[in-house]
Amino acid sequence: SDEIHTKWAGKTVHFAKETDSTNEWCKRMSKEGAEHGTLAVAEFQSAGKGRLGRRWTAPEGSSVMMSILLRPEFEPQYASMLTLVMGLSVAQAVKELDVEVSIKWPNDVVVSRKKICGILTEMGLENGKIREVIIGIGINVNLEEIQDDLKDKATSLYLETGKKYDRNRVIGLIMEKFEKNYEKFVKTCDLSLMLDDYNAMLANRSQPVRILDKLNPYEGIAIGIDREGELLVKVSDGAIRKVCSGEVSVRGL
Ligand code: BTN
Repeated sequence: SDEIHTKWAGKTVHFAKETDSTNEWCKRMSKEGAEHGTLAVAEFQSAGKGRLGRRWTAPEGSSVMMSILLRPEFEPQYASMLTLVMGLSVAQAVKELDVEVSIKWPNDVVVSRKKICGILTEMGLENGKIREVIIGIGINVNLEEIQDDLKDKATSLYLETGKKYDRNRVIGLIMEKFEKNYEKFVKTCDLSLMLDDYNAMLANRSQPVRILDKLNPYEGIAIGIDREGELLVKVSDGAIRKVCSGEVSVRGL
C-alpha cells in the first residue's frame, strides 16, 4: 500500500468488507504460509473476539479492526509482552493525530480516562516453537455512539475531538510505530529499549493507585513499568512491589 511506509509491517494488506474475526482470518492465512507482517483489515466482523472469551462488536465502517501476523524467532515465553508493544504503538499513533492519549497499564489505550482500543494477542505453537503470533486491534475511530452499558468506560476519537479520521492513515501510523518498537523488542526480548517511551504515556504515573488484587488489595504510587512489563508500585513503607499483568487491575484514586 502507498499509505504505509514500513519494511514489513503491513506490507501485504488484505481488506474485507466482512469476516468472522480478523484474528481467525490471520490464523487461516498463517496455515497457508502467509509471511511475517501480513495485515488483515475488515469493515465488519460477524464474530469479533475480545479478551477473556468476550465478544467484540462494532458497527460497520466506524472502527479500525485489524490483525497482524508475526513470525518471531524468540521463545514462546516472551510473546505476551507484544501486547504492551502494540499498546504503546497505538498510543504513539494516536498522539501523532494530536489527541491527548495515555496507556492504562497493561494495555488499554485511553483518552479522557475512557478506553478507545482493545488488543487481543494469540499465539500458535508447533513442537514447542512459535508458529505464529497474531495481534488483533480494535480502535474506536469514527464511532458516533457508544452502547449504553459502556458509556462511562469507552469512547472514540470522534467523540473526543469532534473530528473524523482517515482510517487508512490510522492504520499506516500504527504499522510504522509498531515496526520500530517490534525491532527494538526483538533485540533484547524485553521492553528495555522502549521503557521511557512507555512510561511517558503511562496513565496515573507518580500518582496514587489501588491494586485490585482479589486476595490482597493495596494502595501505592505507580512508578512505571520495568523491562518485563510489570508495573512498579511504591507502597507506604517505601518498598517497591511488582504487579504482574493478567492477575489484577489498577485504578486511579
Ligand atoms: C479486548 O477485549 O479489549 C480486546 C478486543 C480486541 C478486538 C479486536 S478487533 C480486531 C481483532 N479481531 C478480533 O476478533 N478481535 C480483535
